[in-house]
Amino acid sequence: MIPFVDLKAQYHSIKDEVDAAIAVVLESSQFVLGEQVAKFEDEFAAYSGGRHGIGVNSGTSALHLALLAAGVGAGDEVITTPFTFVATAAAIGYTGARPVYVDIEPRSFNIDPQLIEAAITDRTKAILPVHLYGQSADMDPILEIARRHNLVVIEDACQAHAAEYKGRRVGSIGDLGCFSFYPGKNLGAYGEGGMVVTNNSDYAEKIRMLRDWGQERRYHHVLPGYNYRLEGMQGAILRVKLRHLERWTEARRAHACRYHTLLAGSRPCASEELHDRRHVYHIYAVRTSDRTGLQAALQTRGIQTGIPYPIPVHLQAAYADPQFLQGDFPHTERASLEVLSLPMYPELANDQIDTVVTALHEASSGGR
Ligand SMILES: Cc1ncc(COP(=O)(O)O)c(C=O)c1O
Repeated sequence: MIPFVDLKAQYHSIKDEVDAAIAVVLESSQFVLGEQVAKFEDEFAAYSGGRHGIGVNSGTSALHLALLAAGVGAGDEVITTPFTFVATAAAIGYTGARPVYVDIEPRSFNIDPQLIEAAITDRTKAILPVHLYGQSADMDPILEIARRHNLVVIEDACQAHAAEYKGRRVGSIGDLGCFSFYPGKNLGAYGEGGMVVTNNSDYAEKIRMLRDWGQERRYHHVLPGYNYRLEGMQGAILRVKLRHLERWTEARRAHACRYHTLLAGSRPCASEELHDRRHVYHIYAVRTSDRTGLQAALQTRGIQTGIPYPIPVHLQAAYADPQFLQGDFPHTERASLEVLSLPMYPELANDQIDTVVTALHEASSGGR
């Protein structure tokens, strides 16, 4: 059996450190925010190339508060990709604004900057690129368009901790960067968690208040806020795990390299790392025209796979918008039918990768 991810294997590899960190929180009894969260905020912001980090209770909350801090609200439009987890669009909706979709570049699965300008209207407030699967969107043209049209750029880096674009870490390239620490992410908490990273101290101050009931100080509520605080336990665990992230990221990249080499020139074809990016392989995706058959054949051989995402956001019942119909985003819609993700986590062994690839070759050559 080769699982899709193996959170237990990772816990066992750092058990002593994690258990000690949890004990510190129990002794201090700072269960919500507190010292461990504050230290983690500083450490993770620095790691991501930003000046400020504000810990929140999920990546969705990070996106919601980043949008609010940027002044996005009812009647506004935010340009984003339909090929993402629904949280990206949901967070835009929470502010009262409307997501306006732009198709992806098929090679990277990320928003195509060349299509952005045509989607800008006088209601557009922000561009929200998603660094899907762990690879940065093409940020330079996005920033250039945003500057010309006076738009805020909010990065959805929920899948892309430690990813780089032209040598810069994602999350601090745009005006605000949003991360998720959901357990299966490259840096995962043992529960929910998220963070906004920014170099802008006004945004940081506002988000710090918004996540904690809009309080300037205790019981002085200057903004209508939220209970989006990060728990002390998660801060302590994430501090431990951050110390291992670089090693884990390199392990993911080595696994991807092995997959690439073994899959070269064959079907299904593998996802690409673009030359000016550091892909962190949250997801290792392949494309196949017979996804259902291939997934079933791998399952029979004890190999778990995933389908991120089978239905693009503009075709999800909950996010339907009469402006966006089936057929509007051909690259997104095709990817949603073809993408299959293979087992990918730092603790994966080389012989497991070899087993996956052998099974893929057998299954794709008809040996089901
Ligand atoms: C691209 C993307 N955006 C946003 C989110 C939301 O993060 P969370 O689950 O922590 O709310 C996720 C995580 O699932 C994601 O993958």
